[in-house]
Amino acid sequence: MAAIVSEILRKGELSKEDIIYLLGADGDDLRELFREAARIKQQYVGNSVYYRGLIEFSNICAKNCYYCGIRKGNREVKRYNITDDEIVAAAQFALDNNYGSIALQAGELESDSFTSRITGLLKRIKLISEGKLGITISLGEQTMEVYKEWFDAGAHRYLLRIESSDRELYKKIHPQDDLHSFDRRTECLRDLQKAGYQTGTGVMIGLPFQTLSNLAEDILFMRDMDIDMVGMGPYIEHENTPLIHYRDQLLPIAERFDMSLKMIAVLRIVMKDINIAAATALQAIDPMGREKAIRIGANIIMPNITPGMYRDSYSLYENKPCTDEAADDCRGCLEARLSMADADIGYGEWGDSKHWHARQQEDRDTAK
Ligand code: 5AD
Ligand code: SF4
Ligand code: FES
Repeated sequence: MAAIVSEILRKGELSKEDIIYLLGADGDDLRELFREAARIKQQYVGNSVYYRGLIEFSNICAKNCYYCGIRKGNREVKRYNITDDEIVAAAQFALDNNYGSIALQAGELESDSFTSRITGLLKRIKLISEGKLGITISLGEQTMEVYKEWFDAGAHRYLLRIESSDRELYKKIHPQDDLHSFDRRTECLRDLQKAGYQTGTGVMIGLPFQTLSNLAEDILFMRDMDIDMVGMGPYIEHENTPLIHYRDQLLPIAERFDMSLKMIAVLRIVMKDINIAAATALQAIDPMGREKAIRIGANIIMPNITPGMYRDSYSLYENKPCTDEAADDCRGCLEARLSMADADIGYGEWGDSKHWHARQQEDRDTAK
């Protein structure tokens, strides 16, 4: 068996069948997969982990994704919307603590007032940090015009998870209407790339109806889209969502966790120089979940710096960690955790995707 894994790992380009084989690895095979992914990570992106201080500034969302705890249809959630001053104060915290970058995330809304609010915020944060803070945004599907406006205002990285790259599975986990169109989502990813962003996507792992073939296709989708960054993690059921009816059909939670680590390792082997986040959902399952991901391929962590009193309400899934700590607590905690994982922290650095830099260079070379 191990011979097959070694043979696959020696190949230049992996086929779908190879990826499916790796995702099924266990025992010695699995150890070899993780060892190779860790080696590639060190060789291509180094030992530093970069921070994106995460500000989940509002849980108001116009959409109704069947898996998500803050979907519009969930009346049990207390809705909140942090003030601009509080958001800027959180950005200041990131700056004072040398986090290098922040990530602004919220439920999906499309409106002129939302657009201009974000534009104003981006400009304020650029101003207070004298351009020093890197800014990632994760604000869903928007028009090309909006993406450009926010890029010009100072955001340079954008996360938009495809959730599943399989059209049929996508349909099963979303309502069938224009607000939840698979085609629009892929189009938005292309628009983000055209607008100049370092573009990130990701999927949930262990969804009901999901197969190994779907997961292998997810990795190929990221490769074919030439994505710069990925954040992916286990699907964790939430009581007040429609998908809870399929609770009995899910992989056991520990297997969803293991599969998420394998996905990260395989992705690192397939896309050597991209940024890969250690998703917070990993830690909801295993207290050392993110550190394990860092060891086998991830190089980004998103410490929650949302003001404490709101954290509890951004409940995408059950058991979300760090919801009752103040931002200060996470800093010390993370330092200890990352030193246990033998990782360095890239304090004060943007930690841009090396893949993105390589792409820029290629574009310049072909233009010559
Ligand atoms: N389990 C895991 N991840 C989830 N997300 C939303 N709901 C869940 C859940 N139940 C993820 C989605 C979304 C991101 C903000 O959170 O992938 O893109
Ligand atoms: Fe809204 Fe995102 Fe949750 Fe979907 S996953 S309901 S878009 S917050
Ligand atoms: Fe948030 Fe440990 S990382 S409390």
